[in-house]
Amino acid sequence: MPAVSASAPGKVILFGEHAVVYGQPAIAAPVTGVHVKVIVQPNPLQPSGSIEIESPAVNFHATRSELPEQHPLHILFQQIEQTLQISRLPAMKIRINSTLPAGAGMGSSAAVSVAIIRAITRFVGLPVDNEGVNRIAYEVEKAFHGTPSGIDNTVITYQMPIYYVRNQQPQLIHVKEPITLIIANTGEAPSTAEMVAGVRQRWQQYPQRYEKIFRQIGCLVESARQILEQGSWQQLPPLMEENHQLLQQMGVSSPALDELVKSALQCGAYGAKLTGGGGGGNIIALVQPEQADQIARQLLRQGALHTWLTTLRPIQEDK
Ligand code: MEV
Repeated sequence: MPAVSASAPGKVILFGEHAVVYGQPAIAAPVTGVHVKVIVQPNPLQPSGSIEIESPAVNFHATRSELPEQHPLHILFQQIEQTLQISRLPAMKIRINSTLPAGAGMGSSAAVSVAIIRAITRFVGLPVDNEGVNRIAYEVEKAFHGTPSGIDNTVITYQMPIYYVRNQQPQLIHVKEPITLIIANTGEAPSTAEMVAGVRQRWQQYPQRYEKIFRQIGCLVESARQILEQGSWQQLPPLMEENHQLLQQMGVSSPALDELVKSALQCGAYGAKLTGGGGGGNIIALVQPEQADQIARQLLRQGALHTWLTTLRPIQEDK
């Protein structure tokens, strides 16, 4: 068996994070400038079922047998074996290389899962389709994040902007005009699982207040989808502002995120909001392409630890 590799991009949530866990729609897009690359090689000296995993960037090295039962990678290998209906995967070495920051809200756990699933299933000559990849990745996301909506694994599997409602087939969004976004990071790496659990606790305490916020977010996501598909992006900034405020009310923003949103607007971004689990992590800022580099530099001067640029582009239809 020759070595096989597979990659998966990062992701960004444009609108609807957290409310999506409660059945509201959300919009997400892939971030292709960062990725996880996985290389699978045969390990002929080891018995079948033996898997060695290394991820030099995070100083991780383990064998499958060392992983606890509940470890996401353990669940991942089991899920792959179940899906392929094989009792044991052949012996292999897996190397994970990533330019995707962990804990920054860019879907690193889902990207690792998707890239491993694609690489292993190709390695054994039994590739699975997007639906299969997505289903396995969702099982693993549950081990990482508790009660995820499934949006991260879905957008990373399909690698297209999507309109997503939990437990439904994702709908691809065809943006009419390019949308340029800066993603800027506060430098904190909060746990998405903890942020989602915090919202759940407050929702249980104040169900009416939280359900109203979730519904308001759902409504603005519907408007955002139409705007993206019609190409009238000038109408997006007020929706970004409203979404950020509703996330603040939910208790998932942080002083650093609010500060970065304010800085982005002062530097000339049209709109900005936190993205992903919150509590720190990333904001997105909608900018004019010609100003993107300059605004990104200013954000770095004003305290952002890192910035990335990403563009949602209309799909070129074949003539
Ligand atoms: C995390 O990227 C997005 C959240 O909405 C959680 C989820 O949807 O699983 C915060």
